[in-house]
Amino acid sequence: MPSAPPPRPAPTRFAVLGTGHWARTTHARALADHPDVEFAGFWGRDAGHAAAAAAEFGAGSWSGDEGLADLLAQVDAVTLALPPDVQADLAVRASDAGVHVLLDKPVATDLATADRVVQALQRNRTASVEFLTYLFMPEITTWLEEMAALAAEHGPWEGGVFRWAGSIDAPGNPYGQSRWRRERGGLWDTGPHALSIVRSLFDDVVAVAAARGPRDAVGATLQHRGGAATTLSLTLTAPEGAGGSFATVWGPGGRHDLPRFHDTAAEGFARAVDRLRTAAATGVPDALDARNGRDAVAVLAAVEAHLQRPDGTTPVRPPQS
Ligand SMILES: NC(=O)c1ccc[n+]([C@@H]2O[C@H](COP(=O)([O-])OP(=O)(O)OC[C@H]3O[C@@H](n4cnc5c(N)ncnc54)[C@H](OP(=O)(O)O)[C@@H]3O)[C@@H](O)[C@H]2O)c1
Repeated sequence: MPSAPPPRPAPTRFAVLGTGHWARTTHARALADHPDVEFAGFWGRDAGHAAAAAAEFGAGSWSGDEGLADLLAQVDAVTLALPPDVQADLAVRASDAGVHVLLDKPVATDLATADRVVQALQRNRTASVEFLTYLFMPEITTWLEEMAALAAEHGPWEGGVFRWAGSIDAPGNPYGQSRWRRERGGLWDTGPHALSIVRSLFDDVVAVAAARGPRDAVGATLQHRGGAATTLSLTLTAPEGAGGSFATVWGPGGRHDLPRFHDTAAEGFARAVDRLRTAAATGVPDALDARNGRDAVAVLAAVEAHLQRPDGTTPVRPPQS
């Protein structure tokens, strides 16, 4: 039997890569309030944005390529609140510097890039956790445990509907100017949330089909190993009054709705920090590590590939006049 890796000290000195709304209100808030962590400050491509974010917390700021190298030499771990493709490159760079990474969702927006992140983390033996908000909330994890118990007693879940809809065009929404969201749409922004629940309840996704709706909306059907089928409805441009998320699962154990959670995102993020510290200290990968995130990217990339197929949908014959 292989022996367990020797325990290492848990990372204590953390920095945030990114300076936007989420970086400040969730990542930095959680780190600054965490009793076991020292929050070093922010790195951003824009020195002014990094300094302004740092001033809110009385922390340090770094910018540019040299600033990043300097920061990575000083911290044990970084959390990344950046567009996913930017995140992927910087996660590889952090890992190559021996720094553990707390990623945001999705790990990347293509499979080759996600694989590159996973390979770097394995090569460098650096730990990772992907912050999938719902899976760090007690109401949700308790419900998932109840669902697992019902499935064990009555048989596997047979289907489910998973609707995740944001409204980034609503007045005051902090993500209205987010370029990657405009380019990649709800599939890549809200899709990881939906999949975090789907993949907790169902066996692996083996095949997908999908169709486009208005603007960025996507409807997808997922076929799972073992025969279940689930559907996703994803957008981040839902009309006023039509946003929000819900999920329902059914099978021999009945029909059940995903509950709401009540903690703040920063409270959930603090739990992700704890999980990263444990994974780094023990050398045992977290269940929500980059590899798990890579497997979600594989599903999203398959949906995107289906949407791009010229014969992606089967036309319905129009009614006879
Ligand atoms: N779990 C959740 O519910 C949740 C909610 C929100 C966000 N997130 C995640 O957090 C991550 C960041 O999202 P976000 O909304 O903050 O994204 P965003 O608003 O599109 O971008 C965040 C920041 O990234 C910086 N940036 C953009 N391009 C860059 C580049 N090429 N190099 C370096 N920095 C660059 C920008 O900083 P400058 O101002 O310096 O240009 C921007 O403020 C994503 O993974 C997202 O999914 C998760």
